[in-house]
Amino acid sequence: MYVLVLRVVFSLMCVHVTRSVSCPAGCECSEAAQTVKCVSKDLQDIPTGIPTYTRNLFITGNHIRRIGPECFKGLDNVITLSLSGNRISEVESRTFSSFLNLRSLDLSSNQLQVIHAEAFVMHNHTLKELNFSRALYNHSSVTNLAVALQWSSLDSLLSLDLSSNGLIVLPPHIFLHMSNLRRLQLTNNSIVSVSNESLLGLEHLEELDLSHNALKTFSAGGLMELERIPKAKLHLGQNPYTCNCGIEQFIMLLNTLQDRIVDAELLVCVYPVEFRNFSLLLARKLVLECHHVPESSNMALQTSYVFLGIVLGFVGLMFLFVLYLNRNGIKKRIYEMRDTCREMWEGYHYRYEMDSDPRLSQLSKSADV
Ligand SMILES: *[C@@H]1O[C@H](CO)[C@@H](O)[C@H](O)[C@H]1NC(C)=O
Ligand SMILES: *[C@@H]1O[C@H](CO)[C@@H](O)[C@H](O)[C@H]1NC(C)=O
Ligand SMILES: *[C@@H]1O[C@H](CO)[C@@H](O)[C@H](O)[C@H]1NC(C)=O
Ligand SMILES: *[C@@H]1O[C@H](CO)[C@@H](O)[C@H](O)[C@H]1NC(C)=O
Ligand SMILES: *[C@@H]1O[C@H](CO)[C@@H](O)[C@H](O)[C@H]1NC(C)=O
Ligand SMILES: *[C@@H]1O[C@H](CO)[C@@H](O)[C@H](O)[C@H]1NC(C)=O
Repeated sequence: MYVLVLRVVFSLMCVHVTRSVSCPAGCECSEAAQTVKCVSKDLQDIPTGIPTYTRNLFITGNHIRRIGPECFKGLDNVITLSLSGNRISEVESRTFSSFLNLRSLDLSSNQLQVIHAEAFVMHNHTLKELNFSRALYNHSSVTNLAVALQWSSLDSLLSLDLSSNGLIVLPPHIFLHMSNLRRLQLTNNSIVSVSNESLLGLEHLEELDLSHNALKTFSAGGLMELERIPKAKLHLGQNPYTCNCGIEQFIMLLNTLQDRIVDAELLVCVYPVEFRNFSLLLARKLVLECHHVPESSNMALQTSYVFLGIVLGFVGLMFLFVLYLNRNGIKKRIYEMRDTCREMWEGYHYRYEMDSDPRLSQLSKSADV
């Protein structure tokens, strides 16, 4: 009941009884340019009495909190609508459905929180540009926005700006029905990874800006997403790339994508500190040390080598210790060995001398006889 009353009051505020030819208070109207501007006038609502000739409508820098379909009734001709810099937190169902030729909608710098699933449903598929830069109240609002974008038929959209919204992840399928989108701005968010199926439906994308985010690397799933947009130029700089084995696949891909990356010189390692400012495109050598062995098994191998070394060292020590304990016996043994050797040698020497002296051998022969 309360909601209903609010709605009625709200409708009364938005819809004028008769649209006058004159200009609403706080606005500047130019019939020649078919343009109406209501800029920074502390307006709390969309003003009433906007002339029907209006093609370009700028209601910016005011304090509007909520917009619904009643606000724009009769404004069939609007092509460009900017509601930038207000405090819009709620967009009702089919708010823009009265526009028959809307091509550009700017909702940047607002505080969108409650976004009806059918908020952007329009009759004709005419919308080409949609600007949500700095438009969300917080990153949780992207869930509502994703639903609304999927429900609206935005297959004519060419450009979508979602920059500066503190986004952490992109919900899967958020761009599913934007098969004609050419330019997607996601710069200056906090996106930590490009997740599975988040770029699904963007096969005609020509430019993707992911610079100034929180990407440390691209996972296998993220790399698959990049493969979904084979024609797109990529902005990937100003991310805290972490140069460990986990980034190897991304670097391999970079080398094949090089001509598609607009800001290749800005792709540098940020962590670990010893690789800071090291170009990702030149980092191949650095990561090839991974030898394609997963980090965990590599570690296991290293620890097993260390363990083997310790065991061998211990055995060696034991051996030396045993030798030390037996040192007297060994000494005796060595002396004995030396004595036997000496005796043998002397015996041999003696016999040799006997053999080499002919007289002695004669003597021995005659003695034999
Ligand atoms: C837009 O849709 C209306 C009906 O909703 C139709 O009369 C009009 O011709 C359409 N305009 C264009 C440009 O398709
Ligand atoms: C969106 O709006 C912001 C702020 O008004 C502006 O800086 C940016 O250029 C707009 N984006 C596009 C794609 O026009
Ligand atoms: C976003 O705003 C809503 C409404 O105030 C709040 O409930 C939610 O906790 C906020 N989310 C974050 C991540 O701050
Ligand atoms: C980046 O986004 C934050 C809000 O998330 C904003 O305050 C800041 O001005 C933005 N920076 C640029 C350069 O647009
Ligand atoms: C992510 O991708 C994997 C295959 O790589 C698939 O099995 C999984 O279902 C996907 N998850 C989502 C949420 O789409
Ligand atoms: C990295 O490079 C930038 C400019 O190229 C420089 O300002 C910065 O001091 C460098 N940082 C380190 C740790 O070398």
